[in-house]
Amino acid sequence: MREFIEFAVHLADLASEQIVPRFRVAIGMENKSKDGGYDPVTVADREAEAAIRREIRRVYPDHGILGEEHGLDAGTSSYTWVIDPIDGTRAFVLGQLHWGTLIALNDGKAPFLGSAAGAELRRGSETTRLSARANTRLADVTICATDPTMFAGAAHQQAFSRLAPRARSVRFGGDCYTPCLVAAGCADLVVEGGLKPWDVQALIPIVQGAGGVITDWSGRPADRASEVIIAGNRALHAEVVAALAWSA
Ligand code: IPD
Ligand code: CA
Ligand code: CA
Repeated sequence: MREFIEFAVHLADLASEQIVPRFRVAIGMENKSKDGGYDPVTVADREAEAAIRREIRRVYPDHGILGEEHGLDAGTSSYTWVIDPIDGTRAFVLGQLHWGTLIALNDGKAPFLGSAAGAELRRGSETTRLSARANTRLADVTICATDPTMFAGAAHQQAFSRLAPRARSVRFGGDCYTPCLVAAGCADLVVEGGLKPWDVQALIPIVQGAGGVITDWSGRPADRASEVIIAGNRALHAEVVAALAWSA
C-alpha cells in the first residue's frame, strides 16, 4: 500500500508539471461535448494524463489504466488506475481555483488507495490527518453541488427539490474540491449528479478514511455511480438518502 501511495503522489507531481505552468495562461480549449453542451478540455488535461499513463506503463506494465481523456488500456493484473487529470476543467479555464488531479487505484473490487491510518493532507513535508465532522443534521448544513444543471432529468430535479429545502442552504461550484473539504471537516455535504468513475473513485478512500460516507443516492456503493452523496457522518447521510427518496 505504502509503495502505491508514494507512486500516486509521484504521478500527481508529474501531472502538476504539465498543468501548473498552463494555469491562467491563454492555452485555449476545445469543447468536446457532442450534444451541444459545454465540456471543455485543454492541452493541460491531455498532456497531464499522457504523462501519468507513460509512468504507469513504465513502472507497472501489467496494470490497467482508465483515463477520462485517453480511454481504457486493459491490463493483465487485477489493478486498474482510474485517472481524471483535471477534475474541474470548467473552473481551470476560468482561472478559478477549485480543480484537482484525481488518481485512484482499483483492485478489481473497489478503489482502495488510502493509508491504514486514514486520509491525509500533505503539504511539502507536513502531513495532517483529515477528519470529517460528526453528528451534523441536514437542517444545519449547506449542500455543496457543482452545477444546478447537472441533474439529468425530471426525476433527478424532483429528488433534489425534495432535499434542498430541508438544508440550511445550497452552494454551487467546487468539483472535486468540496468532497475533500468534507473530509477535512470544513464542509458537511456534497450531492452530485452526472458523474463518471474517474470523477468518483479517487474520492472514495479519502472520504471514508476521514470517517465520512460516500454512496449513490440510494445508499449503494459509489464507485460506478453517477448520482453521489458525500456526507461527513452516517446520521446526516441517512437523512439525505431519506429526503432524496431515490430509486434508480
Ligand atoms: C466534471 C466534474 C464536475 C461534474 C461534471 C464533470 P471535468 O469533470 O467532475 O464536478 O459535475 O459532471 O464533468 O469535466 O471537470 O473533469
Ligand atoms: Ca471530472
Ligand atoms: Ca477531467
